[in-house]
Amino acid sequence: MASASGIDNGTKLVVVVGATGNQGGSVARRFLQDPRYAVRGLTRDQSSVAAQELAMLGVETVRADLDDVESLKAAFAGANIIFSVTNYWEPFFRPDCRAKAQELGVSCRKYAYDVEYQQGKNIADAAATVADSLNDNGFLVSTLSHAAKCSNGKFNDLYHYDAKADVFPDYVASAHPALAAKMSCIHTGFFTTSHRILPQSYFKKLDDGTFEMRFPCDPDKPIPHLDVNADTGSFVYAVHQMPPGKHYMAGEYLSWAEFAQTWARVTGAVVRYKEVSFDDMVNEVADRDLGVEVALMFRYSSDPGYDGGMDLLKAEDLREAGIDCPMLTVEESLARMDWAATLGKSS
Ligand SMILES: NC(=O)c1ccc[n+]([C@@H]2O[C@H](COP(=O)([O-])OP(=O)(O)OC[C@H]3O[C@@H](n4cnc5c(N)ncnc54)[C@H](OP(=O)(O)O)[C@@H]3O)[C@@H](O)[C@H]2O)c1
Repeated sequence: MASASGIDNGTKLVVVVGATGNQGGSVARRFLQDPRYAVRGLTRDQSSVAAQELAMLGVETVRADLDDVESLKAAFAGANIIFSVTNYWEPFFRPDCRAKAQELGVSCRKYAYDVEYQQGKNIADAAATVADSLNDNGFLVSTLSHAAKCSNGKFNDLYHYDAKADVFPDYVASAHPALAAKMSCIHTGFFTTSHRILPQSYFKKLDDGTFEMRFPCDPDKPIPHLDVNADTGSFVYAVHQMPPGKHYMAGEYLSWAEFAQTWARVTGAVVRYKEVSFDDMVNEVADRDLGVEVALMFRYSSDPGYDGGMDLLKAEDLREAGIDCPMLTVEESLARMDWAATLGKSS
């Protein structure tokens, strides 16, 4: 691994967790553009299409499992920068995890919390073993606000937020102070692609051919939105040029009412935002566990807010610090997508 890292010829090594996915894939591709860096991407399956595509681009793919801390220690060896991301949602789509949750007598939501929390801890424990080799700002972690704390206990089971925040930054700060001193926390906005997971809530087609956007969220509350594939890499690359210890939000703030009108401009469709109840949303999502988790997220996004009311640095703050941070607007992001299926047209 060491020779492929490029360390021998003076380049720095970026190790990317989740390199075959949305966030990590964007980060890996951005650092590849800088010849000062070699990129190592972690995956459970080096033969997957996504992993092979990365290898073709010049990423050193390495097999590692977030459930296996020893595999992470080996994969992080020699790292100057580690990008960390964890995936709360995977157990929702795996029958074996569903069965395990049932066997344990817990909801899939809680089971997924336990998995994500443990995987986050494993990343932190493994990264701590290479803290000395990391750049001063070399532990760049994708996370979200702590819903229970930011809401003063009103949202005590918004699991996909707290599974991240309980580790990044809380566990890292308490268990690994030297690593915490090199950490930047990057919150990610709503992915502009999330309509693919919740099509009926985002763009429900009515009998008259118009659309309704239906969330249990204040239509006017500003919400951050991120083109995860195009822009996570730009943002993280910009953050790595900052001093450590800061907290960021990657995404453009737009209310859902503004988002709906932006989508209308892009597609030519007529869409109306309708604030629905928590129960409406739960009932409209095919899977109950998924429905509850996302409906809680929309309520939380309304009050105290998607970012929990935290004061987070944004792309404009990075630019003010003199760092290039190109990001698509929501309109540009939506305009890049093919909406034919949503609109009911052939593409
Ligand atoms: N959707 C939204 O609007 C939104 C907004 C903010 C935050 N988020 C958060 O984004 C996260 C998902 O990020 P994403 O979209 O980038 O993920 P993704 O595209 O689904 O990819 C998941 C990545 O994680 C890797 N991975 C998963 N389990 C692993 C394991 N056990 N060992 C090693 N690697 C593992 C996968 O690698 P291999 O499969 O190759 O092993 C893959 O590269 C979620 O936690 C979600 O809460 C989502």
